[in-house]
Amino acid sequence: MMNAAPASRFLRACAGLPVDATPIWLMRQAGRYMRNYLDVRAKYSMLDCIHTPELAAELTLQPIKAFEMDAAIIFSDILPPLMGMGLNLEFVKGEGPVLHNRLERPYDIDRLATPPAEQTMSGTLGAIKLVSAELGHHTPLIGFAGAPFTLASYAIEGGGSKTYQRTKTLMYNEPTAWQRLMHKLVTVQADYMRKQVQAGAAALQLFDSWAGHALGRLDYIHYVQPFNTQLFHMLADLDVPLINFSTGTSSYIEAVAQCGGTVLSVDWHMPIDEVWTRVGTDRPIQGNLDPIALLSNWRELKFRADDVLDRIAGRPGHIFNLGHGIFKETPVDNVKRLVDYVHERTLTPPTGGWA
Ligand code: CP3
Repeated sequence: MMNAAPASRFLRACAGLPVDATPIWLMRQAGRYMRNYLDVRAKYSMLDCIHTPELAAELTLQPIKAFEMDAAIIFSDILPPLMGMGLNLEFVKGEGPVLHNRLERPYDIDRLATPPAEQTMSGTLGAIKLVSAELGHHTPLIGFAGAPFTLASYAIEGGGSKTYQRTKTLMYNEPTAWQRLMHKLVTVQADYMRKQVQAGAAALQLFDSWAGHALGRLDYIHYVQPFNTQLFHMLADLDVPLINFSTGTSSYIEAVAQCGGTVLSVDWHMPIDEVWTRVGTDRPIQGNLDPIALLSNWRELKFRADDVLDRIAGRPGHIFNLGHGIFKETPVDNVKRLVDYVHERTLTPPTGGWA
């Protein structure tokens, strides 16, 4: 829990405190919609960028310099920790991530290692040190990790998936192997997230991108909820907010919220006022603009941003964000206009002094 009241908008909103204007940052804000990201990536591979602190720091800071973002997120990816466990990860151009030696049988799970993060993710930890020193207290830096289910799905499918057939078949047929896999992932991720805070991260986000796409409510409660709950519990003593992100989970958002986390980050399927009715208005919420709105004209984009803000109705505890990552086709001007608009529309004049 937080000790003194935090000063930055983002950390105040995460604590449910009033803010001078609604904080905003965008998931995947350092990415291919930015010209200078593409310039760096033309020279260095994705894994080089992740494992070289100076490159990761530069990419992290690009959107902070270009826009008035209220938080930075460290440039990395959710998948590299799997490399330290023994999986052979490659980012294939035009295809996305591929795990060449995917987990096929329980024996493969038992062979996975659980090394400490400083051995396997020292590039990201080093980048966090560089960026947090450069940003100081003004712009908080968010560290992150993938949730056990989402990571397990990549490790078992060997990459992305539409149906999660292999993952669910292993989960159903080999429930004890599934538990061993999830425990290993919880161990590795809890250690990694803690060390990101020690390196200077001011908040942590857990990305459970695919559980909601793959699983119905009962499977979520049985096969996912215990492990996300355990992970949040293991991090609860840290002095930073924990953001619990998922997509496709509207039909069982209560079960997602119950896992823990200071802030619940939701996609655009359900309006935020309804999320609040279901999980309690005391829970800070992050979201939930459809990222495709950023591809449309300003009238449509403003209409959708206004809808999010109208439903918040000035209640404290809101961090404006997308419901999922920004698309590479997004016009940079739309990002700037959205960020500025959210600040301008929500700005409250300082109290005290002459009215
Ligand atoms: O938000 C940020 O600016 C920080 C960087 C960040 C990346 N990946 C960089 C990245 C973060 C927070 C992630 C998280 C991530 N990675 C998730 C969870 C969030 C989500 O979107 O659900 C997932 C599922 C991944 C796995 C992943 N990495 C995929 C599926 C892909 C390929 C698809 C795609 O969007 O290109 C990646 C590659 C990746 N990770 C890129 C970036 C900037 C693109 C690399 C490139 O082609 O230049």
